[in-house]
Amino acid sequence: MEVSFKILRFDPQRDARAHWEEYEVELEPTDRVLDGLEEIKGRLDGTLALRRSCAHGICGSDAMLINGRNRLACKVLVKNLKQPITIEPMRGFNVLKDLIVDMEPFFAKYRSVQPYLIEKDAPPEKERLQSQAQRERFDDTTKCILCGACTTSCPSFWSNPDYVGPAAIVQAHRFIFDSRDQGKEERLKVLNHGDGVWRCRTVFNCVEACPRGINVTRAIGEIKQALARGKV
Ligand code: SF4
Ligand code: F3S
Ligand code: FES
Repeated sequence: MEVSFKILRFDPQRDARAHWEEYEVELEPTDRVLDGLEEIKGRLDGTLALRRSCAHGICGSDAMLINGRNRLACKVLVKNLKQPITIEPMRGFNVLKDLIVDMEPFFAKYRSVQPYLIEKDAPPEKERLQSQAQRERFDDTTKCILCGACTTSCPSFWSNPDYVGPAAIVQAHRFIFDSRDQGKEERLKVLNHGDGVWRCRTVFNCVEACPRGINVTRAIGEIKQALARGKV
């Protein structure tokens, strides 16, 4: 099938501002948007800049705005999209080139919640056991692939880039509700301020954007409740 793409291009070394460029490519209906972008880059215009790695919805590197919605390019079939398919970089980050944005501020927020198991006691002799229910408690938030789709679809983030954002909160949730972790207090402290969880206005865009189907708003709500109760 013939597929039309309209891509927002920006090269800081050449362009004063972003502009649209259009491309026509021949694809199979079972091809995904990433296949189309690879075809454009490989055959029509090698200067097109984009990030991708796994091509299977696992690495989180190809989140972008596809027909106005934050999606992973490798997960969306071209046959299901209205044409021309519009492609833009994620909003709220500086564009480095074309579809590549500067993710460093995003990862700085991710690091701020200490996204790793913290243990204060001496290590046990055997493994730390966990019941099925204890593991289930944080199962949803283990699925995050740090694609940034949630944070960059959030109006609270657009209006205040200092907001820690839903992705970092999801990562904090994954450890705060892990029965083996002993760093809950530090993490809750990081999130208990105006640019932390309280900046979330329960808009739900993050849930709609998440390619992993994580209930991001519920995770944020559970942290708000833990803060309000003073315990997890
Ligand atoms: Fe991406 Fe979902 Fe993780 Fe947000 S919560 S970074 S949308 S996988
Ligand atoms: Fe933003 Fe999601 Fe909250 S879209 S306001 S983080 S519910
Ligand atoms: Fe890895 Fe799409 S390329 S998630």
